[in-house]
Amino acid sequence: MSKKSSVVSRSGRFSSGPGQDVAAFSQSISFDWRLWKQDIIGSMAHARMLHRIGLVTKKECSDICKGLEKIGDDITAGRFEWKPELEDVHMNIESALTKAIPAGAKLHTARSRNDQVALDMRMWTRDEAINLVEEVYGLQRSLVNLGLRHAEIIIPGYTHLQRGQPVYFAHHLLAYVEMLDRDAGRFIDTCKRTNVCPLGSGALAGSTLPLDREGVAVELGFVDEKGKPRLTQNSMDGVSDRDFILEFCSSAAVTAVHLSRLAEDVILWASAEFHFIKIADSYTTGSSLMPQKKNPDIAELTRGKSGRVIGNLVALLTLLKGLPMTYNRDLQEDKERLFDSADTVRACLRLMAAMLDHTTINEAACAAASADPSLLATDLADYLVQKGQPFRHAHHDVGALVALAEKNGVPLNGLTLEEMRGIQPLFGPDTLGLFDLRKAMERRNMAGAPGSREVKKQLARWQKRLA
Ligand code: ARG
Repeated sequence: MSKKSSVVSRSGRFSSGPGQDVAAFSQSISFDWRLWKQDIIGSMAHARMLHRIGLVTKKECSDICKGLEKIGDDITAGRFEWKPELEDVHMNIESALTKAIPAGAKLHTARSRNDQVALDMRMWTRDEAINLVEEVYGLQRSLVNLGLRHAEIIIPGYTHLQRGQPVYFAHHLLAYVEMLDRDAGRFIDTCKRTNVCPLGSGALAGSTLPLDREGVAVELGFVDEKGKPRLTQNSMDGVSDRDFILEFCSSAAVTAVHLSRLAEDVILWASAEFHFIKIADSYTTGSSLMPQKKNPDIAELTRGKSGRVIGNLVALLTLLKGLPMTYNRDLQEDKERLFDSADTVRACLRLMAAMLDHTTINEAACAAASADPSLLATDLADYLVQKGQPFRHAHHDVGALVALAEKNGVPLNGLTLEEMRGIQPLFGPDTLGLFDLRKAMERRNMAGAPGSREVKKQLARWQKRLA
């Protein structure tokens, strides 16, 4: 048997409130309190609109707005008492308002919690999307700065985690800057489609009262580039659409996957096997058993947390896929997933940036790895191509050189010119000069290539863009 609790919001139709277990099960205040600012701003705009259309007097409107402001101050100061029996943020605020100001009872005119929560969520999501864009820029800056601090460092570029061709370390970092830029773009796009005002959709079928939807939308910033109001065009869609949350969480999931890949590179680079980077002590942890250990936990947690961000997206897609029109209480489950994706990605972006700001490069290890002459095997093939050989044949001949060097137990640049010419007479006296790494980097200068000039140009471009 469940104990009964009194629920202020319940009225006329119900003879009793829900049981305590029911209230505990259905409350959302423990997480949706985070929407308080949006809820108050939205309610103020709604109250002013009700005054404009003559449903609330000037005095009532100003009382309501002052009352809401006071509640906002109380919440900020930690004085506001959130009551779980009032279910959610909307009823907590409205109930406190009505207790303080009789006119508060008029605030819910021509409004349902269904369009109210849709409004709050859109405002929260659009603000957070823009916040995350700034966080993404922050990590991009850290990557660019790390690249600039070590602009001359060359490392092997890998495919299949096998050494491929040489690249500037900065070029590798800038790959992530490009990925992150697409992430920022996705959040900006998300923000555009989110920024449409659902208020006035009512419970599902609008209102018989002559609401000024346009005025509310403009006041709340739901406008296009020309300042024209952007309104949802179908009341049923207005209360039940959560695509903007899907989009946000999808943008967050792609970002998290990019962060996870960066984390994986950092983890590899920090290992004794690679030894390319050294993360500052304050951004690593030790082992409780092995005294020598220094672990890249921030990167590992970032890699790990991508799982929950992906999970949040899948949870939301699953939540929505079977819902009949229009509002269903299932939709309350959108909030924790949204908040968690935002919080997680924000924290990962910040901590990865801070960690990279406190990371140094082990130049000797990078130099040793990039001195591997086989990284320039492709340059030998290109040399033969320039002498007129078809690439497939050039590839085959250089492969034969690699095999010969392996057989002789020497590095690729340890073969004599005679040995090379024995396999392919097109190799001239300038062949051994191809193994000069700095010169090799100068040969790679078209747009997007990891060459000396191009990488400097890209670093400068990003530095300017992110300034
Ligand atoms: N807490 C609810 C939610 O997040 C608000 C909307 C409630 N609407 C309703 N018809 N019960 O979805």
